[in-house]
Formats: sequence, C-alpha cells, structure tokens
Amino acid sequence: MGKLRLGVLASGRGSNLQAIMDAAAAGEIEAEVAVVISDNEDAYALERARQRGVPAGFVNPKSFSSKSEYEKAIVEQLNRHGVELVCLAGYMRIVGTVMLNAFPNKIMNIHPALLPAFPGLHGQEQAWRYGVKFSGCTVHFVDEGVDTGPIIIQAVVPVLDDDTADTLAVRILEQEHVIYPEAIRRFAEGRLKIVGRKVFTKEIEPFRSQESE
Ligand code: GAR
Repeated sequence: MGKLRLGVLASGRGSNLQAIMDAAAAGEIEAEVAVVISDNEDAYALERARQRGVPAGFVNPKSFSSKSEYEKAIVEQLNRHGVELVCLAGYMRIVGTVMLNAFPNKIMNIHPALLPAFPGLHGQEQAWRYGVKFSGCTVHFVDEGVDTGPIIIQAVVPVLDDDTADTLAVRILEQEHVIYPEAIRRFAEGRLKIVGRKVFTKEIEPFRSQESE
C-alpha cells in the first residue's frame, strides 16, 4: 500500500506541520505531505514546506468573490496533488461546505484546549484565564461547527500555579506535536471508526507467538 497523501492547511508558524513532516520522514507514519496551502502569504509554514521540497502555495482568499469560490480553488489544489486526508494545522478559518463535501470525514484539526471547553481563538489563554487545573489539546474531525467535530485524541496538560498563558501554551504545543502525528498514523492504518459523535481506535491484533508452539 502506498503512503497516505496529506494536504496541510496552515496560516502561520507551522510547528505542527513540521512535526507531521518529521514523523513522516522518520517513517513513524505511513504518510507523506503532498502539498501545503496557506491563506497567509507570509506564513512560515510555507517556508518549512519548501525547505523539505514539499509543494507549497498561497491562495489569497481576498481574490475570490465568495468563501465557496475560495474553497473550490483549495479543493482543486488538494485534488491535483492526490490528497486523501486534509490536516488543518493552525489554519485560522472556518471550513465551509465546499471543503467538507469534497473531503467527508477526511479533514482533521488540532485545537489547543480540551474540547468542548474553550473552542475558537486563543484556547490556551482562555483556559488559563478561567483558572482550570488541567488543559491540553485535541485532534478532531472537522464538521460544520467551530471545533465541534468528533474527537480522535486528547492529551492532558496540568496548569501550574506559576504558569502564564504563554508558558502553558508552550507545554500544550509539545503535546500537540505528539498527538497530531499519532492521529494521522491511526487514520493511515485504517484504524479509526466514527460512530455518531464518537471515534474509536481499533487495536492492532497482538502478535501470538505462543499459538504455533
Ligand atoms: C497551534 O497551537 C494550534 O493548536 C492552534 O494554532 C497553533 C498553530 O501553531 N490552532 C488553533 O487555535 C485553531 N483554532 P503552529 O502554526 O506552530 O502549528
């Protein structure tokens, strides 16, 4: 079986993109980043992709008459590169029906909080301001809502008394870089099953060395 072809959408720094590309290069996931698309011309994510020889492009939302037209252009690029799974990695736009229909249950997102708590922007800071003792990050499938889709994996990060929003965000980001490749790995291995709101991960059959003895 060939490697799962990923299309990554990113608006900024691209550290999650980097974690995904690193996991792919190390052979930890049976996947490869086929294309990176940004809605921000200056996104460092584009530079990271180019450094790895991955096709990367800016699609300017302002040059389209509507969100649908903009998303049609993105879908065209994704299809041109044979993308099978779309990964939002710090993509700061709400996905619309054109993309959702083109990739049903095939769009993932990473969010820097334990959903359904603190959706939307600045999840780390929202959690820190609220005073929770634990926060974390979530990888989920994308649906028509904002950070509402079925949850694939979460990681918990304790909030320390001397944390600032920034120090908390740093520790959450470390966990993002662990769980995003892991979610992709499970998808690539065909192990994710969505049942309503729930996502189950099928375990790999244990190796039964005793059986033949
Ligand atoms: C990450 O913390 C990601 O969880 C967050 O943006 C950051 C992007 O960092 N995404 C959201 O807040 C989406 N609502 P990166 O560009 O270094 O991967």
